[in-house]
Amino acid sequence: MSIGQKALDRFILWWGLHGGVAQFHRPTGAGGHLAGWIMGRRPSNVARNHWAVRLLDVQPTDRVIEFGCGPGVAIAALAAKASYVVGVDQSPVMIGQAGRRNKAAVRAGRARFIQASVQKLSIDDEPFDIALAVNTLGMWPDPVDRLREISRLLRPGGRIAIVSQPRCQGATAATSAAAVDELTRQLTDAGFQHQRTEMLDLDPPVACVIGALER
Ligand SMILES: C[S@@+](CC[C@H](N)C(=O)[O-])C[C@H]1O[C@@H](n2cnc3c(N)ncnc32)[C@H](O)[C@@H]1O
Repeated sequence: MSIGQKALDRFILWWGLHGGVAQFHRPTGAGGHLAGWIMGRRPSNVARNHWAVRLLDVQPTDRVIEFGCGPGVAIAALAAKASYVVGVDQSPVMIGQAGRRNKAAVRAGRARFIQASVQKLSIDDEPFDIALAVNTLGMWPDPVDRLREISRLLRPGGRIAIVSQPRCQGATAATSAAAVDELTRQLTDAGFQHQRTEMLDLDPPVACVIGALER
């Protein structure tokens, strides 16, 4: 790990202990801009998002929607593969950063951003092939209800990937394994069939649970 990365990790730890965590849940104002800057550049966050996109094997005809897109790291990777991508986030600061990060795709009409909370979704788009949520579902109220609503935005056979790296202090591989069980149960309760689980070897491990609707 480079000296710059170590310094950034130390700063994030310090900031987290001094109220910064809230800015990763609902980024606002200057603190929100800083949280977005960190999420857009921190190697572990970029790796987690790119890994999730690779797992989805996105095809050139796919329409993809991401919830809690933050500064748009996954959207940039998705826009390079899919025909059309939509990013949804409750934070105007994140929607601004994501739009700037993906301005070429937005200009080309291949990416669109919607500022909305998942509990107040009103998306009148054609059905999507794939939905993605990275380190955000744990922040949603009534996640099973939210997942059920998302399932209605997908075509029959559509897939969803939920990525989670536990962020609580002292989290271990066992915390990540518990997250897999919880995500699998939530997806099943929302009507998705459990397709597979993948783990990324970070500390603690990152879980990606992929579900699919019936065809
Ligand atoms: C930890 S950040 C992760 C951002 C991005 N997925 C990433 O991995 O870089 C969580 C994001 O989820 C968004 N978020 C949290 N709760 C939300 C909700 N109920 N509706 C929409 N977005 C939400 C936050 O605004 C924030 O941008």
